[in-house]
Amino acid sequence: GGAPVGPVPPPPGMSHGYFQHGGITFPGLLYSPRGLEAARDFPVHDDDVFNVTYQKSGTVWMLEILSLIRCDGDPRWCRSVPNWERGPWLETLLGLRRARGAPRPRLISSHLPVQLFPTAFFSSKAKVIYTVRNPKDVLVSLYHFARIFRPYKDPGSLEQFLEQFLQGDVPFGSWFDHVRGWMGLRGRENFFCISYEELQQDLRGSVERLCVFLGRRLSAAALDAVVANASFAAMSRNRMSNFSLSPLFILDLRRGPFLRKGISGDWKNHLTPEQSSRFDRVYRERMAGLGVTFPWDPP
Ligand code: A3P
Repeated sequence: GGAPVGPVPPPPGMSHGYFQHGGITFPGLLYSPRGLEAARDFPVHDDDVFNVTYQKSGTVWMLEILSLIRCDGDPRWCRSVPNWERGPWLETLLGLRRARGAPRPRLISSHLPVQLFPTAFFSSKAKVIYTVRNPKDVLVSLYHFARIFRPYKDPGSLEQFLEQFLQGDVPFGSWFDHVRGWMGLRGRENFFCISYEELQQDLRGSVERLCVFLGRRLSAAALDAVVANASFAAMSRNRMSNFSLSPLFILDLRRGPFLRKGISGDWKNHLTPEQSSRFDRVYRERMAGLGVTFPWDPP
């Protein structure tokens, strides 16, 4: 926080408009109906590994972990290639092109809801790692992100943005629908769900579990190297992971860092008790009957 906030006009020729695709809101900058159709038709290989999240749930953290596991903890790849090339985002045309040409086994990131995900995945042996995070922290993180990510509209006040978030009236749609949709894949051999909070609490143990899922055996030293190089401090220092190479018309880091705080529970510094209870009410309603327990659920 602490960055000066003021209206930043879009560069000439850029519109901050949104469009709808499959009932989901997307920004018109970087995203297009054609790109989303191409993502749906994306040819999947059995050795593909997909890093899937609702935005602001730890995508680039998981991407760093998976990049490091791929290299047995050797940080050279992470320090020489931007994360958007190591694990390109499937839902932009540029990312899709990068993903298509990536050396196998490919690492591919996506925020798509399950119903817009590549159809070919569902009859493949490709793996999905789905990272979830306390939605109150997602809200706060997204609120700050919307002020620096140029394709997104300015979020206005947190009060207003909270309502939009709860109603799913934000890019990539409702957090609740996204999580419910992806949780439908639980129990599949090629689906692994982990939370941001678990990564926070026990990064090494989480990396070990990821290695089992991926069928990778790492030495103790390699595990240590993954943990050390995927820390918030190490990633914040790494220009290939902190988005400082991202063009200004996409990400305006003058207004705040991408790697903002990297903690669990920052929502307590932002939501009033009333806003928090309002959130809890909607949460209970929207998550009823799912039958999954998350680290942030009350006991
Ligand atoms: P905050 O805004 O709460 O700091 P995504 O990659 O899905 O956009 O998520 C971004 C969030 O993950 C940001 O949260 C960011 O700080 C956090 N994050 C990224 N790398 C992290 C790390 N190594 N450790 C902890 N949090 C990390």
